[in-house]
Amino acid sequence: MERIKIGLIGLGTVGSGVYKSLAQFDNVEITKIAVRNINKPRTVEVPTEKLTNDPYDIVNDSSINVVVELMGGVEPAWDYIKTALENGKHIVTANKELLAKKGEELFKLAEKQNRVVLYEAAIAGGIPVIMPVKTILAGNKINKIQAILNGTTNYILTKMDADGASYEDVLKEAQELGYAEADPTGDVEGFDAAYKITTLATISFNSRVKFENVYREGITKIRKEDMQRANELGYKIKLIASATIDENNNADVRVHPMLVPKTHMLAHINYVTNSVAISGHPIGNIVLSGPGAGEFPTASSVIGDILAIAREWKTTDYLLPMMRCKHNSTANPVKIDDTYNKYYLSITAPNAIGVIAKIGSICASKNISLSSIVQKGVKDDNTAEITVITEKCLEKNIKEIVNELEGCKINSLIRVMEG
Ligand code: NAP
Ligand code: HSE
Repeated sequence: MERIKIGLIGLGTVGSGVYKSLAQFDNVEITKIAVRNINKPRTVEVPTEKLTNDPYDIVNDSSINVVVELMGGVEPAWDYIKTALENGKHIVTANKELLAKKGEELFKLAEKQNRVVLYEAAIAGGIPVIMPVKTILAGNKINKIQAILNGTTNYILTKMDADGASYEDVLKEAQELGYAEADPTGDVEGFDAAYKITTLATISFNSRVKFENVYREGITKIRKEDMQRANELGYKIKLIASATIDENNNADVRVHPMLVPKTHMLAHINYVTNSVAISGHPIGNIVLSGPGAGEFPTASSVIGDILAIAREWKTTDYLLPMMRCKHNSTANPVKIDDTYNKYYLSITAPNAIGVIAKIGSICASKNISLSSIVQKGVKDDNTAEITVITEKCLEKNIKEIVNELEGCKINSLIRVMEG
């Protein structure tokens, strides 16, 4: 049997998992591996003759059939992938940032070269979601996605909530476990989830969503007090990636923290687990859940992609037609200010007569109806923390009331998921 030859770029968390797990398959062979530092101690034993610190040794090697890019970032990864495609290689990648920012160019080039680019590992770690959306769900008109797509932030929020652990300690743990990006700002500021929802929405809606149109907020401003209040009111705080599209191709795609009702299944997705809820016709609603990051779960998705290519390699001139990207339309972006949401507001107000009435009347003047308003006692400094949950209202209006609450301090403004 002729073995398909793989060139691996990156032997970090994911690359090591792929190297260890791929050894059991006798139809594939990793022939070269590019790393930044050949002398770095590793968790995996690799023959030194396979290692190079120049990825061009791989992408320009005519004996290599598939380039597996597991280094991350846009440049120089994009140049390696482009060169590999131009040299006739198929691509497997876990690089969500590259897909979100260069997807259009990448898939056009792949099609021109008649090569495939597979990226199951890029979106929700070990959860199969790209292949299901591209194949068995292909007959659906998908119009809504609600998801937890970042393992690091879900791990942090869960640990802070369950154990009262500090943000810094839990982030360090997530890094040690191999969940976090090389620069964890990408995780905690919501970029990673925004890259993922950009690509997932694009393939689900069959209409390109541009990364620059995805609204993004991270979890760094979430306070322990917000978690406590949320719990008391029947919610958990989660970083939610969501996307909806209407019949006129208007797409509202965003990532931000949300209070999720405890009655909603996403409230119970904890630690590194990710979950993707997809709604469409004729399927209705489905949920896919599983490990969203880490060495072996992510390797599972990369290996699945490699084996899908290996299975069809040399059996056809046009591999994996359903996995290719062919749509031409671009979705119209919906601006966050024009969206309707429910909100949680934490306000520190002076302990004065009529404060709650004032909050109520300012909200009423902006057409904002309140679902609940709670004050818990008075603090030593004669201020009170007031927690408000609104009904659905226009984002632009809630931002205006935040500016009009004179003498009050807005501690937090977090959107609330409907039950
Ligand atoms: P990582 O542990 O930081 O590993 C990156 C690897 O790339 C290292 O082996 C590094 O070499 C190599 N590398 C970096 N720059 C290079 C260059 N210019 N030339 C050659 N090699 C270079 O990262 P990771 O966590 O495995 O993530 C890899 C990719 O998978 C990223 O796109 C990430 O977003 C994605 N991903 C990660 C996870 C996860 O759970 N970690 C899950 C899904 C997707 P050295 O070892 O010599 O430093
Ligand atoms: N840093 C990412 C996360 C890795 O925490 O989800 C998986 O894509």
